[in-house]
Amino acid sequence: MTTWTSLFLLLGLGLLAVDAAAPWWKTASFYQIYPRSFKDSDGDGIGDLNGVTEKLEYLKEIGVTATWLSPFLKSPMADFGYDISDFKAVDPLFGTMEDFENMVSRAKELGVKIILDFVPNHSSDECDWFLRSAAGEEEYKDYYIWHAGFLNEDGTRRPPTNWVSVFRGSAWEWHEGRQEYYLHQFHKKQPDFNFRNPVVREEMNNVLRFWLEKGVDGFRVDAIYHAFEIEADENGNYPDEPRNDWTNDPDEYGYTHKIYTVDQPETPHLVYEWRQILEQFQADNGGDERILMVETWSPIEIVMHYYGNETAEGAQIPFNFQLISNLHYDSDAYHYEYLINNWLNLMPEGKSANWVIGNHDKNRVGSRFGADRVDLFNILLLTLPGCSITYQGEELGMLDGYVSWEDTVDPQACNGYESNYMDNSRDPARTPMHWSDETMAGFTTGKSTWLPVSTDYRQRNVKTERGVSLSHLNVFKRLQQLRQEPSIVDGSAEVTAVSNYVLAVKRHLLGDYVYISLFNIFDSIENVNLSSVFGSLPAKFQYALVTEKSIKKVGDQVSAGSVTLMPHEAIVLRSTTTA
Ligand code: NOJ
Ligand code: MG
Repeated sequence: MTTWTSLFLLLGLGLLAVDAAAPWWKTASFYQIYPRSFKDSDGDGIGDLNGVTEKLEYLKEIGVTATWLSPFLKSPMADFGYDISDFKAVDPLFGTMEDFENMVSRAKELGVKIILDFVPNHSSDECDWFLRSAAGEEEYKDYYIWHAGFLNEDGTRRPPTNWVSVFRGSAWEWHEGRQEYYLHQFHKKQPDFNFRNPVVREEMNNVLRFWLEKGVDGFRVDAIYHAFEIEADENGNYPDEPRNDWTNDPDEYGYTHKIYTVDQPETPHLVYEWRQILEQFQADNGGDERILMVETWSPIEIVMHYYGNETAEGAQIPFNFQLISNLHYDSDAYHYEYLINNWLNLMPEGKSANWVIGNHDKNRVGSRFGADRVDLFNILLLTLPGCSITYQGEELGMLDGYVSWEDTVDPQACNGYESNYMDNSRDPARTPMHWSDETMAGFTTGKSTWLPVSTDYRQRNVKTERGVSLSHLNVFKRLQQLRQEPSIVDGSAEVTAVSNYVLAVKRHLLGDYVYISLFNIFDSIENVNLSSVFGSLPAKFQYALVTEKSIKKVGDQVSAGSVTLMPHEAIVLRSTTTA
């Protein structure tokens, strides 16, 4: 980065900083709950809403401002709740609408915002809308994407296109009743809605209004980049996608190059429309800003469109998956620097950043990057400018749980083969949360759980980690305290690789202390001269946050000219004087 671009970045972020009435979400610390695996209140081995309510105080304890919860709506659970059969009802497995209301009111008392997972791309095939559509009822006929397919010369039938489902196999499923194929970009029990039908759009708008009325503070929007497919031609046909050459298996998702099934130009506009609904609701009902967090695994330039355009506001938080998607075990500090600054540089003016490193679809951070780097990623996420988004258990450094092929339930793995199921399975990141060192990790009083409790729960759990001064959990809590400091809430950010090995993040608000987080990515001992990295630094710093790897204590002083880092160590320093 040139000096001019850093200066520009600095000024840009500095301007944000003086916005005194900044909305709550801009620097919030988000926490993702996967309700099936968070806390079971009734002993059936599956987490539920009362379980969440019981643990809301824990969110408070760890400094979380808002939580987004994976789906708990009525569902046959083919994709564990991402296949919704009634968009306005709670699934009995998770509780009742009253349980939901209790959860919201307790969360409000505690000051924790509740974000609902909104799944607009598809419903369950057991949803009333789909049943009516399949039956050809006039009003519902075009709620989903239907096509008769084609007949081969030998009289056998073939699907309309070569499109492939994310969970393997053709994205088209033949429906005997309607004698047509329907499109499903995910599981065959997840038919895709037809968003070119204005009635469907209004139906989904009403789903948003329904939950806003119920008191949610916003929505995490599922799989938005799949919402539109290319429009059918004048004969009602769709084009094949071009082939990728790295696989010959027509059932593998990578078989085609996705130009017609994701990232269509209409899609961000759908999000702009939803933002309008949120704005209108707020105008009518008052209260804090309601937000949209959208999930799109698109090229970064496309992701930026979800923030809005010259005339329309979009999502406040288009998930920043840059670190999840592009960082590898061996990535060096320059790669970290590039990915972070690239997001900050490409963000439209006046927008805020967000940082995600894990979720229920990806292996655990400690399993991807090594258990030794758990604190490093928590410190990075929580000291970068903007909001942080933490997946449940990452504050404890939970690792992937072992789930045998026999115990595997994730459709993404079950639709494939035993030989490589571990490459596809999302179950290991979804094993139950570790609350204590007691039986079943304190997750349930039942005798079995829907996914096995990971065997390492006795070392890594909330109760034990509360009692260990530099546990991952206590480092996480300490970070949340630092996030109250003006420089870290509102300050400018300078993100720089010091060498291949060390990344540095400087946060500063004029008149306050300078904070510098340092990350030693590899396993060598490193020494850095901060003054040669950042111009005009105060000469003396003190340790504001250390981890179990540190040989220093909080409060120990160090000269900016020589800071030593142990292998994989990450720390936060604070200048001894304000500047
Ligand atoms: C993204 C969700 O995070 C994932 O868990 C789900 O399987 C798909 N969308 C389909 O809804
Ligand atoms: Mg239960």
